[in-house]
Amino acid sequence: MNKIVVVGSINVDLVFTSDIRPKAGETVLGNDFKIIAGGKGANQAVAASKLGADVTMIGCVGDDANGQFSLDNFRSVNVNTSCINEIKNVSTGVANIIVAENDNSIIVIAGANYKVDKSVIDNYKKEILNADIVLLQLEIPMDVVEYILNLCYKNNIKTVLNPAPAVLLSKNMIEKATYITPNEHECRIILGADKDTNIKDIIKEFPNKLMITMGEKGVMYFDGQDIITVPAYKVEVVDTTGAGDTFNGAFARAIVNGLELKDAINFANKASSKSVTKLGAQAGMPTLDELTE
Ligand code: RIB
Repeated sequence: MNKIVVVGSINVDLVFTSDIRPKAGETVLGNDFKIIAGGKGANQAVAASKLGADVTMIGCVGDDANGQFSLDNFRSVNVNTSCINEIKNVSTGVANIIVAENDNSIIVIAGANYKVDKSVIDNYKKEILNADIVLLQLEIPMDVVEYILNLCYKNNIKTVLNPAPAVLLSKNMIEKATYITPNEHECRIILGADKDTNIKDIIKEFPNKLMITMGEKGVMYFDGQDIITVPAYKVEVVDTTGAGDTFNGAFARAIVNGLELKDAINFANKASSKSVTKLGAQAGMPTLDELTE
């Protein structure tokens, strides 16, 4: 009972570390550069796999060196790559990440990630229907995400929708997803709520479904009676890239292992707090042993 399928993006992250974030029209000298495996879907798959789940990734890479790099990375952490298509004459997704002034800024070029269409999903329908939980984000086409949500809902398969990068979601998507995990800013965007709407009023409309990730303030949700805040763990932060992805991968792993919602969030908070102690989206993701140390 721990089969997780992730349908989502696979990127190679080009990570620039700098003391100063350049303004428009400005050039600054940075400190370091690294090429690292990334992509929200890939990161969530790796997070769950490192924590001992049986993970299959569904997605697309290009027929380039970055695609091979991504596939090798998945294999090194036991993520099943048999449902990843290699698309001819298309680039693998890339992300330009600037880590500066205690935060990151990211530009993603989707590349092969936008080749994940409904026919890809139909080809791997068996894997989806065999999953205990399916993890989704918004770096593949939106209609495909909705298609998977409908499919899973019809077949009683739980889903976690991490709505990032955030866009307004249809009522149907919100209804069909089992869990939705935005941060505060994303929450307003996906629901079309203005900045004055109290976030607590919003979450009361979605008991045991909407979980707001609030970084060092923890995670907030409504259990049907009370608003619960599950606190975060205090750590020395090096890079927050991938913290949300670690949360989602770990949360899915905890749910398929039968943890109650509050305990699953606590488990995921612990994993995501470990993940920010190293540079890069995946480097700090803990194994189960590291998490229980
Ligand atoms: O969530 C972090 C990820 O967002 C990075 O790995 C980058 O590839 C972008 O998809």
